[in-house]
Amino acid sequence: MTSAGKLAWLRRTTALLVALPLLWLAWQWHLLLTGEANALGANPVEYTIRWLGIGALRLLVVALAISPLANRLRLPLLIGIRRQIGLWAFAYATLHLLVYQAIDLEFSLVALLNDVAKRTFIAAGMAAFVLLLPLAATSTRRAIGWLGARRWQLLHRLVYPAGLLACLHFAFMVKGQQVEPVIYAALAGALILSRLLPKSWRIPSAK
Ligand code: HEM
Repeated sequence: MTSAGKLAWLRRTTALLVALPLLWLAWQWHLLLTGEANALGANPVEYTIRWLGIGALRLLVVALAISPLANRLRLPLLIGIRRQIGLWAFAYATLHLLVYQAIDLEFSLVALLNDVAKRTFIAAGMAAFVLLLPLAATSTRRAIGWLGARRWQLLHRLVYPAGLLACLHFAFMVKGQQVEPVIYAALAGALILSRLLPKSWRIPSAK
């Protein structure tokens, strides 16, 4: 298979793997609304918000890990799905916000602004989302041409603070001591740190 063929296959497989959980979620809602047994539990809205939130966070961490993984494993093809994974993370985060805004806050912008002002974890989540907006908006080839590669790359470094804020959002949300937010924060922190280190300090990629 040519590398273009391999990349097309990888992109299709990625799209399928990331879209399937959303289809599963839609199916569970269909079961709920038709009165059938489903997996959404006693509070389906909370389940959905949390499920989409954790999906967005996982995809963000995967997007952060792609470059180091591509280097270490000598798989430059992986870089070809970085933008796609980032966009899926944004799609999950958008649905996460929409479900919360539409169902929990009944579309009230005032309630949303109040929430951002009063609850630290919501403010951190919103900050992460706002940082992802320009990245999603400039994800097209045309935008890369318009901004120029250097400026585009600089802008897309916003994914690092966005990842960090998303981890804080999760950590501030959970009550008591829980290990899951620590794992995500450690992963994101290590990936970000590895980008900040001078090149000579980084673990060399296999040659
Ligand atoms: C990049 C953006 C975001 C990411 C990655 C993200 C991620 C998460 C994660 C991982 C959780 C916890 C899931 C769990 O318990 O398993 C969560 C919960 C939640 N997030 Fe976000 N979030 C983001 C943005 C937002 C925004 C913008 C809002 C609202 C303005 C928001 C509102 C909430 C709420 C209400 C919960 C559930 C709290 C609860 O059930 O008590 N998130 N989010």
